[in-house]
Amino acid sequence: MKTDTTSTKHIQQSPCAFVLFGATGDLTRRKIVPALFSIYTQKLLPEGFVIVPFARRDKSDEEYRKDLYDAIKQFAPKLNVDGKEWEEFSSRIFYVKSELNDLEGYHRLSKRLSELDEQYKLQGNRLFYLATPPDNFSEIIQMLGESKLNKVEKEGSWHRIIIEKPFGVDLKSASALNKELQGVFDENQIYRIDHYLGKETVQNILVLRFANTIFEPLFNKNYVDRVEITVAETLGMEGRGNYFEHAGITRDIVENHALQVLTLIAMEPPMSLEADATRDEKVKVLNSIRPFSASDVAHYTVRGQYGPGSIQTADGTEKAVGYREEPGVDPCSDTETFAAFRFAIDNWRWQGVPFYVQAGKRMKERLTEVKVFFKPVPEVLFARRSYGQLQPNCLTLRIQPDEGATLDVSSKIPGPEMQIQTVSMEVKYGSSFDVPIRDAYERLIVDAIRGDAALFARNDEVEAAWSLITPILEAWRDLSCPLFPNYEAGSMGPDAAIDLLRKGYVGHPGEAHRD
Ligand code: BG6
Repeated sequence: MKTDTTSTKHIQQSPCAFVLFGATGDLTRRKIVPALFSIYTQKLLPEGFVIVPFARRDKSDEEYRKDLYDAIKQFAPKLNVDGKEWEEFSSRIFYVKSELNDLEGYHRLSKRLSELDEQYKLQGNRLFYLATPPDNFSEIIQMLGESKLNKVEKEGSWHRIIIEKPFGVDLKSASALNKELQGVFDENQIYRIDHYLGKETVQNILVLRFANTIFEPLFNKNYVDRVEITVAETLGMEGRGNYFEHAGITRDIVENHALQVLTLIAMEPPMSLEADATRDEKVKVLNSIRPFSASDVAHYTVRGQYGPGSIQTADGTEKAVGYREEPGVDPCSDTETFAAFRFAIDNWRWQGVPFYVQAGKRMKERLTEVKVFFKPVPEVLFARRSYGQLQPNCLTLRIQPDEGATLDVSSKIPGPEMQIQTVSMEVKYGSSFDVPIRDAYERLIVDAIRGDAALFARNDEVEAAWSLITPILEAWRDLSCPLFPNYEAGSMGPDAAIDLLRKGYVGHPGEAHRD
């Protein structure tokens, strides 16, 4: 059944220049520019709006516009770039060529922005978007400071900076990056991207929890047995072997995307929907997760790496090489392409409820979901006698694909006998509304322009996540590595991860107990 869609509030956007670093990179071509053009076609960009790519390569405005035209054709073929809208949109793109560490180039940028300010009535508002590799973040931040591009010149104007992931590689580097950023911008000007937060289904977690009466009273240790969060991808390296070798799945997915989902599931109701109110609650969850000792790491984490195998594609089965055979990867690599964790949250709401998080590349299917398993009913009535399989209730929030939610409940099978079976009550998020689900980047860019930072990570939030993850990465370095590869491409991951879910630990339980 389709649901009435209440009309969306008209979004007031102030004019601005969108200054893009990393303008010739993959992310710009695949995500940022298609998102910008799509929101332009939806009339969600302000009247006064220009895009100013700032990059090393020698290009004219026309050449750069043509590159973006090709990129949209390739990566967002549903967007129509052959009409008037593209012409209008692309006529507002003004390329500035410079090395990223050349102060002179930033002065030229500043001059260009002043001219465009006049011409397009941008009111001095600027949004700097850092979509470069992380190695360039420092020099750009420093140069923005030195050239005074960080300084707001006109009263009432704003300057903001969006910074892409990865935000550091451990606690030390993330803190250092925070310090650099905060040396040049105020925290309320800084927008740290975790694109998962822009996903509709991730935002819907809070709506489901706090806009319905029936779930929130049950989301605690009295009713919930365990929570499982899975981020599984069928993709392998797709040419990103060089990057992934130094990241691994824990830095790539768990430290950011998966922990963000966990905090939304576990947090207390915020005081309001203001950015800081929500982020305060998320930070409290991260700070309440029990830190891992080296022994905890041995018992409550699992690492995996895929070997050769085969994966299902739309056209059938395809052979897949092992991680160590991927381009850019060390043939003896110990980088993990799969990881599973049992987290314990030490607060009144969740103490004793394990939160299992697992993420992997080259898994059997692409699936991001949260499963909240409720406690079994008491051993009386139907549970006492075998009337079929009496399964505990389970609420599944499907983040992607097939976005939606299901609630498994026990139900009587029609007939003269008392037979019970689990059936699913299902909400199909993707088809319940007469509006398409947009790419996460669209929402994030709109929010940054309107100055709403709720879907961006705050400094203490990223540092709290790294405080949790860094000791695990360090302990892995000291512990002997499992014999890699330990799962086949296209499988469900290593056996040890299944053990972790089934028994709650791997190996011998030892002395550490997570309850
Ligand atoms: C990125 C990771 O942050 O998220 C990628 O670097 C991963 O490795 C991607 O594939 C997943 O995002 P999505 O939106 O495709 O689920």
